[in-house]
Amino acid sequence: MNSRTHLSNPLPLSQHILEVPKSATLAINEKSKQLILEGKDVIRLGLGQSPFPVPDSMVSALQAYAAIKDYMAVQGYLPLREAISGFIQHTEGLERSADQIIIGPGSKELLFGLQMVLDCDLLLPAPSWVSYDPQARLLGRNVHWLNCYSEDGWKLTADTLEQHCQNHKGRPQLLILNSPNNPSGACFLESELIALAAVARKFNLIILSDEIYSELHFRGEHQSIARYYPEGTIISNGISKWAGAGGWRLGFFCFPNELRAVLDSMITLASETYTSVSAPIQMASILAFEDSSSILDYIHACRKIMAHIGRHLSALLNQQNIQVVTPEGGFYVLADFSYFRDALTTAGITNANQLAQALLEHTGVAALPGDDFGLKQGLLLRMAFVDFDGHKLLNQVLQDTEYPLNADTPELVHLFSVADKLGEWLNNL
Ligand SMILES: Cc1ncc(COP(=O)(O)O)c(C=O)c1O
Repeated sequence: MNSRTHLSNPLPLSQHILEVPKSATLAINEKSKQLILEGKDVIRLGLGQSPFPVPDSMVSALQAYAAIKDYMAVQGYLPLREAISGFIQHTEGLERSADQIIIGPGSKELLFGLQMVLDCDLLLPAPSWVSYDPQARLLGRNVHWLNCYSEDGWKLTADTLEQHCQNHKGRPQLLILNSPNNPSGACFLESELIALAAVARKFNLIILSDEIYSELHFRGEHQSIARYYPEGTIISNGISKWAGAGGWRLGFFCFPNELRAVLDSMITLASETYTSVSAPIQMASILAFEDSSSILDYIHACRKIMAHIGRHLSALLNQQNIQVVTPEGGFYVLADFSYFRDALTTAGITNANQLAQALLEHTGVAALPGDDFGLKQGLLLRMAFVDFDGHKLLNQVLQDTEYPLNADTPELVHLFSVADKLGEWLNNL
C-alpha cells in the first residue's frame, strides 16, 4: 500500500503561511531568467544584489580559515563583535560594547527573530523593503502602514508618525526605518532624524534602524537614528550590501542597554534555532568592520560608481517623463509612470503588476512592482541599478581614480540604455 495515502488532505499547513501572498518579485525574476535563456536582451533591474565582488582581503581570510570547524558562541565570535563595536564608534560616535551585539545568519533572520520575541504591532513606512511585512504576517502580528509621498522624497515624516501614534495608543509598537532606503534610495537628513526621534521618545516606540546600505550613502553622510534616540534604537547592519557578501549570510544587531532583555531573548532564540553563524565566515568578516585603507578604498570606489549611476539614470528617466526622486544612497530608484496613465490604461495596463509584466515582455526591462513594497496604488516600479560588470568597473576605478564615469562609460552603456528603451515603448503606446 502506498504510505502517501495516509497523509491528510489538504496538508496541515499553518494558516499564517497560507496568508502570506505570493510575491510578484519571484515571478518577474523567473520570467527574466527564462527570457535570458531564450537569448533575449534583458536588463535585469529586479534583484537587489551587489554588483561588486567581496573585497580580496576578506576572500583570502576566508580561504585561510576554511578548516576552522568548531561551533562558535551563540551571540557571535567575540573578536568580530569587538570589531563591530569599533565600527559603530567610528561611524556613529556611539559607545556600544561587544556585549550589546548579536551576530546572525543575515540581518533578515535577525529581523524575524526580533519580531518573534517582541509582542508588538509593526509600523512600516510605505514604501518599505519586501520582507518586513510577510515576516510579521508569519508571526500573526498586526502591521500598520504609514504613507509616504514623493514630495517628501518618499521619507516618513514626524507628523505622519505622530498622527498614527496619537490614534493608536495602547499596544506596544515596533517601527522599522531603513536609510539608505530600499526601494527609494532616500536617506534621512539629521533634522528629519531628530524630529522622528522626538516622536518615538514621546510614544515609547522601539525602533529597528535597518542600515544595511549605510556605507553606500553617496556623500558618505549616513547617520543612524540611534544618535538621537539611543535608548530605543536597535541598529541592524551587515556585510550583504556594502561589502558585496549577500551570500555569506552575516548580519548583526546592536542593542542599547535599555533593551537588554530583548537581546537576551534573541540569544535564547538563536541557541534553539541556528546556534551560530559559520565560523570561517565570522572570522573573515572582521576585516569588513576594520578601519583599514583597503576596505575604505573599496567602499569609496563602490560609492562613487553607484552615485554616478543613480544620478545619471535618474536624469535619463526624468527626461523620458518617468518620474524619479534622485537616490542618495544604495542601489535603487523608485520610478513613477503615472505621466503615461492614459496611454497605459488604453493598452489595458492599470496597475504596477501589469506594468512590470508588460515592460519585461515588450522592452526586456525587468523591474519590480511597487505593490511588494507596500505601495498598493499607483504605477510605481523599483529599479535596482546593478546590471553591469561590477568586478571590472570596480577594478578600473581602484586602479585609476580619474577613470571617467559618464554617459559613455563602456561598462554602463547597456544599463543606461534602459531609459531610451522605456521611453520608446511608452511613447508608442
Ligand atoms: C532593506 C534591506 N534590509 C535587509 C536586507 C537583508 O539583508 P541580509 O542579507 O543581511 O539578510 C535586505 C536585502 O535585500 C534589504 O534590502
